[in-house]
Formats: sequence, C-alpha cells, structure tokens
Amino acid sequence: MKELVIGASGLLGSYLFREGRMFGTYTHNQLPCLIRCDATDLVALERLIERIKPDIIYFPAANPHVDWVEVHPEEAKVINVDAPLGLIRVIRGRGIKLVYFSSDYVFAGSSGPYGEEDSPSPLNEYGKQKYFVEQQIDQYLKNYLIFRITNLYGFEKRGKNFAQNLICQLRVKKSVRVAKDQVSTPTYVPDLARAIREIAVRDYTGVFHLAASDYLSRYEFALGIADIFGLERELIVGVSTSELEQQAARPLQGGLISFKAEKLLNRSLLGVNEGLSEMLLEEKRYGRIC
Ligand SMILES: NC(=O)c1ccc[n+]([C@@H]2O[C@H](COP(=O)([O-])OP(=O)(O)OC[C@H]3O[C@@H](n4cnc5c(N)ncnc54)[C@H](OP(=O)(O)O)[C@@H]3O)[C@@H](O)[C@H]2O)c1
Repeated sequence: MKELVIGASGLLGSYLFREGRMFGTYTHNQLPCLIRCDATDLVALERLIERIKPDIIYFPAANPHVDWVEVHPEEAKVINVDAPLGLIRVIRGRGIKLVYFSSDYVFAGSSGPYGEEDSPSPLNEYGKQKYFVEQQIDQYLKNYLIFRITNLYGFEKRGKNFAQNLICQLRVKKSVRVAKDQVSTPTYVPDLARAIREIAVRDYTGVFHLAASDYLSRYEFALGIADIFGLERELIVGVSTSELEQQAARPLQGGLISFKAEKLLNRSLLGVNEGLSEMLLEEKRYGRIC
C-alpha cells in the first residue's frame, strides 16, 4: 500500500509521515526526504499523484491560523478550500482514499464536547471553510475519511503549537494571558497520528471525531503544561476570551467526543498528563528548541 502525506512538514503531517514508509511533501519548510509540492498548483499536484500512484492521500496541508484566516478569507481560501477541491477533482474515480482534516471549529461551541451526530454551525471563517470542504468531499467522493480534530500539542521544532509556544514563553519568564472560558479536548499529536493511520489503512470511511477525552479550559491546560515542564505557574494569567480581543470568534464550549474511533481502536487517546509527559521525553530525546 502506498501512502502520501501532502503537508508532511507541518505539526500533524510530520508525525503522520513517521508512522510508516510514506511519501511526503513540503512547501516552505524543507525537510529531508520530503518532495516539494504546492497543493495550490493543480498541475503539479496531479503530476505528483500520477508519479506516486498512492492508495491513500493524507491532506493535512492548510493554513490553520484562525485569526489570519478571519482577516484574509480570500487568500486563505486558496489553500484551505481551492486546493482540497482541486484534489477531489484529480482523484475522483481513481479509487484513491482521501484522508482530510477538519476541526471542532465547525461547531458553534455552545454545547461541546461534540459527537459525530451533532450539527455543525461554524462561528468563524476558518470553521466555515472546513465545513464547506467536508460537504464537497461527501458529495463527490465515496472513499474518504474526514477526521475532526482539535487543540493539537506535541514537540515541534517550529514551536507553533500552543503547548510548545507556552513552554518557550515561560522559559524566558514571560507572562502569558490564557483564556479561562475556552474549553476543549487537547490531543497529543504523535498518539493522534498513530490512531489516524490505524483507521485509515483499514476499510473505514466517513466522518470521525478523534480527540483525547480530558475536557479542560486552555487555562487549566496551561497550568498542566507548567507543572509537567517544571515552569512557573504564576506567569500564567487566566483571562476571558473577550479580553484577548482575537479577530476570529472562538467556540467556547468546544471539544470532541470520539465515539466511533474509540470503538474501532478499542482505546481512548492519551490524556493530558500522559501526553505532556511523553512530550517532555520527546524534548529530552531531540533537544530543546528554547
Ligand atoms: N493544530 C491544531 O490544533 C488543529 C486543530 C484542528 C484541525 N487542524 C487541522 O489539521 C491539519 C494540520 O494542522 P497542523 O497544525 O499540523 O498545521 P501546520 O503545522 O500549520 O502544517 C500545515 C502544513 O500545510 C503545508 N502547506 C501550507 N501551504 C501549502 C500549500 N500551498 N501546498 C501544500 N502544502 C501546504 C505546510 O507546508 P510548509 O510548512 O512546508 O509550508 C505544512 O506542512 C490542518 O488541516 C488544520 O486545519 C489542526
């Protein structure tokens, strides 16, 4: 079985890429063993697929910066919407399985955590773009998986994810304001990548929620990070989301329940204490980035 990760240089993509003998692409963040491919260039994308002839394409490629997407909806659409729609056209009728990544931001965040049966009603542009692509995939493809995921954390050289970024700020004694009223289900990326692959290589199709089950606020999560990494809790200041004045509205009571996936996998994903402890070990193994 041949597997291709489009966006293997990002947080989730890089861990997926390590799950097996895969082909992977980057766009700006060049890494060894990855092929350059801009997914917004449909001709290049089609050529790559013709050459590799994958059975499964994982598509974590996106611009997931929610506030940026809110302010630049048309520019964001090029990679977040047009690229996956182009990919649908390229693979339609070829039997290739598409594994796409959506978010709990497709929900309004008034009654999370959400199960697969709940109705999407996105609050912001990023959530709307994700939900639109989900609908297009469902309309045009049969052999697909859509994983809705949320609040990813893990050791990351580029330090973009919330946990990694917070660790770096606290290490230089910077005070950080964190929302007390945004509740979700933070998910450890290496564990998530393992679970995604386990489901993807089997015959399953459809929409799956995939997240850990600890349900906590960003503030509580931040305190947990400080405790496990031996950093000063006092630097973390709990505030309300409105005080952060973010450009995009946030679903406050978000998060996901992984009903279907837990049944298939016969396990739940790692809780926050276990995930953060593994992240600390990863940092020791690969060396601190900050
Ligand atoms: N992180 C989260 O908490 C979270 C939560 C819910 C859903 N998701 C979704 O999960 C997926 C993965 O998120 P992530 O956090 O791993 O994102 P990420 O770290 O920002 O990685 C994004 C990837 O997309 C690639 N990319 C960007 N523009 C591209 C283009 N024009 N053509 C091809 N590839 C391109 C990037 O390549 P270069 O870096 O080489 O440019 C990178 O490999 C996204 O769909 C995101 O919306 C993430």
